[in-house]
Amino acid sequence: MKIGYYQFRPRFGRVNQNVSKVIQALRQASADLIVLPELPFSGYYFRDRDEVKTLAEDPHRSTTVESLAALCRERNFYLVTGFAEKQKDKYFNSALLLGPEGLAHTYRKLHLFNEEKSWFDPGDIPLTAQEVRRAKIGMMICFDWIFPEVARTLALAGADIICHPSNLVLSYCQQSMLARCTENAVFAVTANRFGADKRPHGELRFTGKSQVVAPKGKLLHRAYSQKEELYITEIDPGLARDKMMTPRNDLLQDRRPQFYKPLLR
Ligand code: ACM
Repeated sequence: MKIGYYQFRPRFGRVNQNVSKVIQALRQASADLIVLPELPFSGYYFRDRDEVKTLAEDPHRSTTVESLAALCRERNFYLVTGFAEKQKDKYFNSALLLGPEGLAHTYRKLHLFNEEKSWFDPGDIPLTAQEVRRAKIGMMICFDWIFPEVARTLALAGADIICHPSNLVLSYCQQSMLARCTENAVFAVTANRFGADKRPHGELRFTGKSQVVAPKGKLLHRAYSQKEELYITEIDPGLARDKMMTPRNDLLQDRRPQFYKPLLR
């Protein structure tokens, strides 16, 4: 199975320009699954919630989604992409799974980072795994990485590959994802953006270094910090079904959830 990411530099507020850039970059791509960054069409550093309202879209009535679904049909692949989602009077920092048949699943970021708490509503959709070709994929978004419960829940739901659209501004995530993949024996594709959102109210710089990690925490590839890159690699998702750390230690079966009760408080 061929999986990977597209790391690029979105321009804040230029939705059509960002969509065209992605379509241009992926037009020749041969892959099964490509992950894009968080909020790759709207940009990230909103002034306030009112500005989110001007850029968010309902995925069921979105020319952005229509163009990307057409690309999936044309190239016969799946995309996981960040998306500023409008649903009635709510606004979510979401990830969409798109395929040749259109929108297959939506995930809404559960753990909002810093000022996102003023811009978005917190996610309200359970963590589940979706079938994509020979694999099951799970989605989480950027800062969700710091809550190990997210990757663990996706692994328990059967995910072989964690698709992780990101707009990282801190430096800890990439290394930490090696641990998430070791403890859960899953693949992870972290698709980060680079460049900066320079706005009248301030500037945020993003750290790039998108990566693909294999079970046992093996780093298969990491992008440069500030460079565009489309990276696709061949993996065997079946490797994520082997949860044995030693002949007598199954990472999921050996858990002792009756001793984890504080996790549910
Ligand atoms: C982040 O969650 N975008 C840092």
